Amino acid sequence: SAAEKGGYASFMLKEIAEQPKAVADTLLGRIDASGSLTLDEVRISAAELREMDKVVIVACGTAFHAGLIAKYAIEHWTRIPCEVELASEFRYRDPILDQQTLVIAISQSGETMDTLMALRHAREQGSKVLAICNTNGSTIPRESDAVLYTHAGPEVAVASTKAFLTQLVACYLVALYLGQVRGTKWGDEIRAVIRDLARIGDAVEQVLGTMEPVRELARSLAAQDTVLFLGRHVGYPVALEGALKLKELAYMHAEGFAAGELKHGPIALIEEGLPVVVVVPSPRGRSVLHDKIVSNIQEIRARGARTIVIAEEDDEAVVPYADHLVRIPATPTLLQPLVATVPLQVFACELATARGNEVDQPRNLAKSVTVE
Ligand code: G6P
Repeated sequence: SAAEKGGYASFMLKEIAEQPKAVADTLLGRIDASGSLTLDEVRISAAELREMDKVVIVACGTAFHAGLIAKYAIEHWTRIPCEVELASEFRYRDPILDQQTLVIAISQSGETMDTLMALRHAREQGSKVLAICNTNGSTIPRESDAVLYTHAGPEVAVASTKAFLTQLVACYLVALYLGQVRGTKWGDEIRAVIRDLARIGDAVEQVLGTMEPVRELARSLAAQDTVLFLGRHVGYPVALEGALKLKELAYMHAEGFAAGELKHGPIALIEEGLPVVVVVPSPRGRSVLHDKIVSNIQEIRARGARTIVIAEEDDEAVVPYADHLVRIPATPTLLQPLVATVPLQVFACELATARGNEVDQPRNLAKSVTVE
């Protein structure tokens, strides 16, 4: 009903708007006064966590994209090797698992059959499973050794938005916590990131306040057949998520690529007028990455692409090559997905609406897929 949608035209729009609160709620009570993490609910002991020599993340759909981003954070902050795999592929390839493998199963609903079967397989091999889940008492957390709940609140729209942002927050918390209990040499960086995380909800709010040009742009692209998405580093999974949203909601051909792969194939797809969304990493920090993506934008634009560039507010280098520029607040590189994803959600939602699609209930999809 209209009342349930709180005045928004769809649950999806309502859930997009709720993201700052969802992020804040997921952090609530998990950072103590000294700036350390207290994840008492993660009932895997610090001693056990210190023994882990590998992390394996399993998930499906949007939750899988959260896992892809988590890999960058976990490996950087903890130096523990991390693999990410689609839950539906995982157990069929005889994966290497033992007691020193921490398996993280990410699921909004907690009922996705592929993810459940993957975690059952992991536990049979003696691995410990930590669930990151949004639904209290659902099957995946019940069958796991421990759970870290995301506090996004109920997500009704089939396409995941606020749950995704909270999955990212939970993944960062787990990564930082692993670093904390293992006493990695990144101690100072860990404390700085925890402070940055505590402020990130404001950055998300700021992005939400500047989305009108993105909506306008989306409406102008309603007759397109294809949109491509490019990113590097954590921007690559963000590109995949932007493309998934467009498939789910607008029923358009959309693909995400690692920008460095362009020259190995995808650049052949570029033709006059093709919209290409590029997620640009911060010009500070890993500036090599930034320079490389700026030349990627130049390359595709020279071949006729209509470039839609998502870049930090102080990034001047991209301006000459952006047909459309979407500004996001500056964040540490690893946290950028929390702000960079938001314009892509708004873009997909508006494009779908302009094409006359029902955004909360896309055709052929289910909120939770309880069959394999
Ligand atoms: C379905 C939904 C997706 C979701 C995926 C995983 O395919 O349509 O939006 O990302 O399942 O769901 P889960 O509940 O496990 O996060």
